[in-house]
Formats: sequence, structure tokens, C-alpha cells
Amino acid sequence: MEINSNHSWAEPFKIKMVELLNMTTPAQRKKKIKEAGYNTFLLRSRDVYIDLLTDSGTNAMSDRQWAGLMLGDEAYAGSENFYHLESAVRECYGYKYVVPTHQGRGAENLLSKILIKPGDIIPGNMYFTTTRLHQELAGGIFHDIIIDEAHDSQNPHPFKGNVDLNKVEALIKKFGPEKIPYLCIATTVNMAGGQPISLKNLKDLRKLTQKYGIKIILDMTRVAENAWFIKQREPGYKNKNIAQIVKEICNLTDGATMSAKKDALVNIGGFLALNDKKLYEESSNLCVVYEGLHTYGGLAGRDMEAIAIGIRESLSDDHMDARIGQVLYLGNKLRKANVPIVRPVGGHGVFIDARKFLSHLKQTQFPAQTLAAEIYEDSGVRTMERGIVSAGRDAETGEHHYPKLELVRITIPRRVYTQAHMDVVAESIENVYRNRRKFKGLKMIYEPRYLRFFQARFKKL
Ligand code: F0G
Repeated sequence: MEINSNHSWAEPFKIKMVELLNMTTPAQRKKKIKEAGYNTFLLRSRDVYIDLLTDSGTNAMSDRQWAGLMLGDEAYAGSENFYHLESAVRECYGYKYVVPTHQGRGAENLLSKILIKPGDIIPGNMYFTTTRLHQELAGGIFHDIIIDEAHDSQNPHPFKGNVDLNKVEALIKKFGPEKIPYLCIATTVNMAGGQPISLKNLKDLRKLTQKYGIKIILDMTRVAENAWFIKQREPGYKNKNIAQIVKEICNLTDGATMSAKKDALVNIGGFLALNDKKLYEESSNLCVVYEGLHTYGGLAGRDMEAIAIGIRESLSDDHMDARIGQVLYLGNKLRKANVPIVRPVGGHGVFIDARKFLSHLKQTQFPAQTLAAEIYEDSGVRTMERGIVSAGRDAETGEHHYPKLELVRITIPRRVYTQAHMDVVAESIENVYRNRRKFKGLKMIYEPRYLRFFQARFKKL
């Protein structure tokens, strides 16, 4: 896909400091991944060459953010940096109140606890692992309302994060609006492959839910990336900038949970943002139980300063052209080599369709888990499973969820790796693709109770 501007996606920065990496041999990697139970989460990072496990907290901060750390006001109460964060959230996103949290799931916990009663229904445009778990722990039941196209890796729909309004209406009819405290709407949709939602869809959804008095809470973790796709693809937005589009998205919602470790270009932090004063008061009160005083929420003053600066940097059109341009560069390379990937390429990474890649394996042989382990063994590139292991078990029946999408996520940290790194990644995956028939799948030998993908262990079949 072309980028709507008159220059290429080259980075709008230069490199001032570098971090040296360890190179490993094939024999070392074979041993390390076995010791890690074939789970890339259990590798030590010193044994990884190019780390594409996640874009979460792995960003390179700018010189201005690093300078901001020195302005950390480490007071227990009323830190100056909190007020900088609050101003950034008000000015850039338009929400009135902000409760800082240690990261995104801290905000999800507070939100779920104040809004969900046991038996409530929480519709969402596909699930996210921690988000759904907090909804369930609060007694809620998640329902998927994303359009069907999102579950098909080859469907080229430009907005696969869109909500199917018929699915929402059916839930309202079946359960009644009083059972639905809010809709949880993600920008972009991580588990669908980093796919955006359109502003038209969000506006239609707002109209529908307002009729019934149902709130919309945004998972705004990658909202600026979503805005970039709207600028590229949605009629009427070509001449708006990312900052304007982000504001327009937020204005259609009642509040948001944020993992600042993604869009906001920091290594730790998050927040809950709200417009309603009473809800703010309840959540800031719960914050002191789970996170810390409501003016630091588990963060150091310096962390809040870095987030405040990072939020503003994330809204630069040049930054976003380079950020997603790099993701598209890798995606296009893999497509040219006929590697089956999710189409269109998403905002924060390229997602391999492991069902197609390892079509000789059954889903219960964990094709995506197998593939992530094989890619590491081939080149020291670390990726992540986003399939049956991540989907976990049904809270009621205890059965595996069997998601249609069985994916390996090649996630690109922001401002960290070069085009040459992307070339190495593509070469490695092409090599694994040539050898795909040799891989026999895995058996799970240890399964933790919560969010099993983080700590599960496997054996080769
Ligand atoms: N929502 C989305 C869409 C996310 O991608 C994440 C984290 C969270 C919420 C939770 O935020 O990690 O700060 O507590 N995603 C990471 C990832 C873990 O690798 O995709 P958190």
C-alpha cells in the first residue's frame, strides 16, 4: 500500500545511542528454546537477536523523553508530572479526568470493578487477553461483535476492526440494555492482526448505543495507529492530521483504558480516562487500593513525564508514516515470498497465518506455538503465539477456545530496529517456510490457570 505523502517512510530521527546485541549459534538456540519449554515468553532476552515478541514497553524513547526523566517530581502526592500527564490527556485525547495506572491491565481492573456487575454482558470488537480476563473476574461475560471478515485472515476488508451493528442489536434484544454496562471498543484490534475501525462505524455505533444509554469505552492502546489507517483509507480524512483524527475518535466515547507502553512511546505506564465525574471519583478511590495514590497510580513521577511527552510525539504524522511504513515494508516482503500472512497488514506487526503455513498440523498440535519456536531456532528472532494457546479456555465449560485465527505475531517495537533487521527477519521466515513440512507440532505439558500463554510449557511431538 502507498503512503499518502510525498516522501518515503524513512525515519524522522537519527540514532544517538545503541544497545549491543548478543549473537547466538544454531546449537545454542536449539538448547535455549527447549529449556524455555518452546514458549518464547520463557526465553531470556540476552539469548534473542531481534526481539519482535511485542511492541509493548519495547519502544525507544526520544532524547526529549529521556530529558523529561530528569524532571521527575518524586513526591508521593501531587507530583508536577501528574499534572503534565493530565494536560496531555485533556489536550490530545479530550477526556476530562485521568487516573494513572502501572500499565493497561491496571486500568482494565479499575474499569471492570466499577462498571461490571455479575452476569453483565460486555460486547467487544474481538477479545484481548487481559481485557477479557478482567471482565470475567468482575463477573462479566464477553461477547464478540466484530464483523465476520475479521476472523478470515485473507479477507482484504480495509476496516476489519469494525463492529457488526446487527450483532450489537441482537445482544441488546436478547439481554436488555440494562445488562450491558458498556461496549469495549479497541483501536486497532490486536488479536485480529492490528486491524483498524473506521470513524463511520464508530459514529453509527455511537448513534445506536446512545439510544439505549449504553456507554462506549475505548481500548485506546493503539489509537494513533488506528488514526493513520483512517487517514489513508477512509473517504474525507486525507487532509486531516493524526492528532485531529485521534481527537475525533475519543470524542465518540465515554472513556478509555490505555496501555501507554504502545502508542505513547514509553517502557511502562497506563491510565484510565473518563468524562463522568462520579465514575472518576469511584475509580480514583479504587486506584489507591490497587495501584497507589490517584496522582501516581503505581508510576514514578519521571514515568508520567515520559508518557506526557510520548503522547504528543505519537501524534506526529511523520512519526506514524515511518512507524507503520516499516511494518508494511516487512509485510510486503513476506507477501512477495508467498508466506501466508494476515491481510491487510496491520499497524503494529505482521501476523503469519499458522494454519496455512503449517497446514499439516491440527490446531491441538499448536501450529502457531510451533512456528514461533522454529523461527527462534532458525535465526534468534523472537515472535509470539496468538492462537489457541492465547485464547485460553471457556470460563464456564473449561474447554479450549478454538479461535479461527491461529497466528504468529511479528511485532515491531517503535523506533528500535532498522530496515536491515527487517530483511533478516524476512529471510529467516522464508527459510522456515521452505522447511515447513519437517515440523511436527507440540504437546502442552504445563498449563497455568490465568493467561496461560505467558507461562505454559511444551514438548516436541
Ligand atoms: N489492550 C490491548 C489492545 C493490548 O494490546 C494490551 C497489551 C493491553 C490492553 C494490556 O496492556 O500490557 O499495559 O497491561 N498488549 C501487550 C501485547 C501485552 O503484547 O500485545 P498492558
